[in-house]
Amino acid sequence: MKLGRLNHIGVATPSIADSILHYRDVMGATKIHAPFDLPDQGVKVCFVDTPGTDGALNGTQIELIEPLPGNASIASFFEKNPAGGQHHLCYEVPDIHAAKAEFEAMGKRVLGQPRIGAHGTLIFFVHPRDMQGVLTEIMETPKEGTHWSN
Ligand code: CO
Repeated sequence: MKLGRLNHIGVATPSIADSILHYRDVMGATKIHAPFDLPDQGVKVCFVDTPGTDGALNGTQIELIEPLPGNASIASFFEKNPAGGQHHLCYEVPDIHAAKAEFEAMGKRVLGQPRIGAHGTLIFFVHPRDMQGVLTEIMETPKEGTHWSN
């Protein structure tokens, strides 16, 4: 396994609108992307940029995740965490299929097939019980820079 950049931290929230105000007014975020629906995954998402080491807004992002109506998979998370909270970490890899094979060879449970994620590149999740309790998203690095934007 070749560990890549920490692309984003997924944070579940009951209200992206409320969370945007939090990241803007409490945390001082200056670049918050427009929220959009990912109907295949039953969520609305919104990316908040943080600065990188050069001061530009190219650091690790926060991925705000709000369930769309009828989403059962995040419902249990909200039962335990009614106010939302940290949901997953996402690392980049150069080759998504090679990474899947490597995790599976190590006996880690990959959840489903690689699919297009919020940044438009292939992603998969690895079961938190096989990952020290952390739901882990693996994402192929976008070919043109590391940032999706809108
Ligand atoms: Co994510």
